[in-house]
Amino acid sequence: MSLKSLLIQLSTGLVALTLAATVSAQTAKPQVVLLATGGTIAGAGASAANSATYQAAKVPVDKLIAGVPELSAVAQVRGEQVFQIASESFTNEHLLTLGKRVAALAKQADVDGIVITHGTDTLEETAYFLTLTVRTDKPIVVVGSMRPSTALSADGTLNLLNAVTTAADKSSRGKGVLVVMNDEIHTGRDVSKSINIRTEAFKSPWGPLGMVVEGKTYWFRAPAKRHTTESEFDIEQIGALPQVDIVYGSGNASDTAYRAFAAKGAKAIVHAGTGNGSVSGQVVPALRELRAQGLQIVRSARVVGGGFVLRNAEQPDDQYDWVVAHDLNPQKARILTMVALAKGADSKTLQRIFMAY
Ligand code: DGL
Repeated sequence: MSLKSLLIQLSTGLVALTLAATVSAQTAKPQVVLLATGGTIAGAGASAANSATYQAAKVPVDKLIAGVPELSAVAQVRGEQVFQIASESFTNEHLLTLGKRVAALAKQADVDGIVITHGTDTLEETAYFLTLTVRTDKPIVVVGSMRPSTALSADGTLNLLNAVTTAADKSSRGKGVLVVMNDEIHTGRDVSKSINIRTEAFKSPWGPLGMVVEGKTYWFRAPAKRHTTESEFDIEQIGALPQVDIVYGSGNASDTAYRAFAAKGAKAIVHAGTGNGSVSGQVVPALRELRAQGLQIVRSARVVGGGFVLRNAEQPDDQYDWVVAHDLNPQKARILTMVALAKGADSKTLQRIFMAY
């Protein structure tokens, strides 16, 4: 064999080996699906100086992925545009559509993790809904941003890289639905948007689970409540979610809103009470009437973060057959009440559920 043909054979072999190595490296990378729903992370402002004035839900999923080339070093990422909306416009139908898609993808062998990009306004509600109803131990990570991609020091790209890193990390499995924002990893249950225009907007009253920094996850605690594979709820068994409304407590309160929601078909009302979920004297008779008509009454509190509503403290919950939301804020209490009522929970079961999830 001439030297020339030997060299050709050698170089062909080298190319084949390199190709095989590249392919195997790609296939060895975790496979993460990015479900885009809109929000500020897909937002665009008129100028780089617009960090709080912009239009949400403008940038499509393929551009979100292309905007963070570093993703390809972490995982094989493919995107789906599920919705393109600002999250204050999420409805129960949006929750069900998204939840069913997540559950279907989680069953696929070629999916190792799922990231959901979402507006921050109701991100905490979606994350809690998914942790209650999607029965998988695969990482599901919800992520948003407080500044649009067009702004100076935009936070969305690093948040997205951190979210994919977390979703691709086997150590994230079995921790329930996670929320990654501002380098922190929170549970979908505990976290809520606590500040409306800062990048460190998301807080968990009992603290984050951990952090993700420069491509690595760091865990400091584990979830304490039931979720995902330990949940008694299953998105695939939920056809529709009942109407549950929230009424905010304050001084000079009246029963107008409670009665109006009931007249419009609410199956439960979450009372965002003052203090320990207190109900003003002017409102108690209406809530007792509505309970007698079959609505569930859930006492949450407008005072959130770091405490919980105590049963039979200032209100005789046993006597009135009311439920307390424990440490859940009103918007989370609404999600849990809907999911529990969709499964036919009575008040006793509803109270057990509030203590367990
Ligand atoms: N309209 C708000 C939303 O879609 C923007 C807030 C954000 O995404 O940061 O939730």
